[in-house]
Amino acid sequence: MVSMKLLVRLVVAALALVLVAAATGASVVAYTWTTADVDTLGRVDFDRPLQIPPLETGTVTADGTRVFDLTLQGGTSDLGHGPATRTWGFDGSYLGPTLRAARGDKVRVDVTNQLGETSTVHWHGMRLPAAMDGGPHQVVDAGDTWSPTWTIDQPAASLWYHPHLHGATAQHVYRGLAGMFLVDDPADPTTPGARALPQTYGVDDIPLIVQDKKFDGDQLDENPGVFGISGTVGDEILVNGTPGPFLDVTTEAVRLRLLNASNARVFDFSFESGQEFALVGTDGGLLERPTPVRNVQLSPGERAEIVVRPVPGSRDVLRSTPPALGSDFFQSRFSGGDDSFDILEMRAAPELAPSTALPDRLTTFDEFGEPSTTRRIDLNGTNMINGRTVDMTRIDDVVPAGATEMWEVRNASSTHHNFHIHDVQFKVVDATGTRNDRPLLAGRKDTVFVPPNSTVRLLVRFGEHSNPAMPYMYHCHLLWHEDSGMMGQFVVVGPDDAARVDGVTDHSSTGGHGTHG
Ligand code: C2O
Ligand code: CU
Ligand code: CU
Repeated sequence: MVSMKLLVRLVVAALALVLVAAATGASVVAYTWTTADVDTLGRVDFDRPLQIPPLETGTVTADGTRVFDLTLQGGTSDLGHGPATRTWGFDGSYLGPTLRAARGDKVRVDVTNQLGETSTVHWHGMRLPAAMDGGPHQVVDAGDTWSPTWTIDQPAASLWYHPHLHGATAQHVYRGLAGMFLVDDPADPTTPGARALPQTYGVDDIPLIVQDKKFDGDQLDENPGVFGISGTVGDEILVNGTPGPFLDVTTEAVRLRLLNASNARVFDFSFESGQEFALVGTDGGLLERPTPVRNVQLSPGERAEIVVRPVPGSRDVLRSTPPALGSDFFQSRFSGGDDSFDILEMRAAPELAPSTALPDRLTTFDEFGEPSTTRRIDLNGTNMINGRTVDMTRIDDVVPAGATEMWEVRNASSTHHNFHIHDVQFKVVDATGTRNDRPLLAGRKDTVFVPPNSTVRLLVRFGEHSNPAMPYMYHCHLLWHEDSGMMGQFVVVGPDDAARVDGVTDHSSTGGHGTHG
């Protein structure tokens, strides 16, 4: 039998252990807490010229197809930690060329995978047949070439491309696989204003692919860490792969095409001078009218086109200050919600070449008509939609070709998310919750921020490309959430197609057999 004395000793020892464990845990939390926020304002040496991704317009074949080549490959890059950082890129070691084509062009991209492992390439924001979309169902195995082809049929916009391999999207993008795809619409009679925008690539029309990274020694660290509920957030910024970049401005107006190509970080862009600038475009293309703003908040995957008029001879810094995430203080802090960064120094020449004044009107939006149905999409936790994780063999929604629908996306979790739908550019009808992105919501979009406990209602006009057997995806564009299962699949079907889809759980409100209320 255990003596009383021994029992007391055991209890005391156990208590001591608990106390030590608690103290250690608390100090780990405290340490992580104090090191979690990043502030580089005024501390960045802008000593490298901003790299501009090469512009590719492809080659036009005899039958009029515009053909591009993209090779996914590994390499090493100097991202500010020496020349030996292992990275991935398209046609190079980091990021990829800017592809450019016009509405009406028939395009083909020959995508060759030299990574030594499977990947995919998705055309984010593009309206195209599901089999060309480059989602998780269009895998390109090591050594293979995939050649999607489609006709561009949408307004001028700044789109982008990146891998979408299920479970590995975060890793592939983080290592450097991303590039821009610019769509022009020179013939559109509704966009006279577009011709007044700065449009000389690399001179007064500048892509800015903004990403945060963290490093372990001289290598990229892709680990989200224990508190990384949004995925990997970094403490250093790259623009077009350049650390500490500056841009020489030579014209009175400069158009910046901002792309948040981070895995998880939300940026709230503004200038050190506090200057006002014009928001002229969003994910889906131009706004109807330029909107004067002093900041623009972008979550991962979102784009904004802005026109800035710097003071001649001045230096100003594009920066990001703490975004309005709406998450509680703990989740916000560990998702970068308290961070501030200096991003890009703009050095305006003392004499600037004249630029045209911005027109009053840039474009006229197509009307979408009345929605035929309403679908409810609930974002749950960090990995579920409508209570379940994605299943590559399950079709979640069946949409009639050309339909206009209301998608009611509710963030039912306590952390922030965003929401992206393939193949479409939707209209945001309304949005609740803490927001710092109102002006963006006036534009056509494919990705929208969804703060905790809030709802966005999206009027969505689907495309005419039907294929009952090949789904498009919708998902949170915080890539770790997407990889973890916060994604769903929809097919677009023609009038005779619906019956061919097996095992469908359609949760439109008129569908009558939704899995939730
Ligand atoms: Cu930018 Cu489904 O992705
Ligand atoms: Cu996409
Ligand atoms: Cu998410």
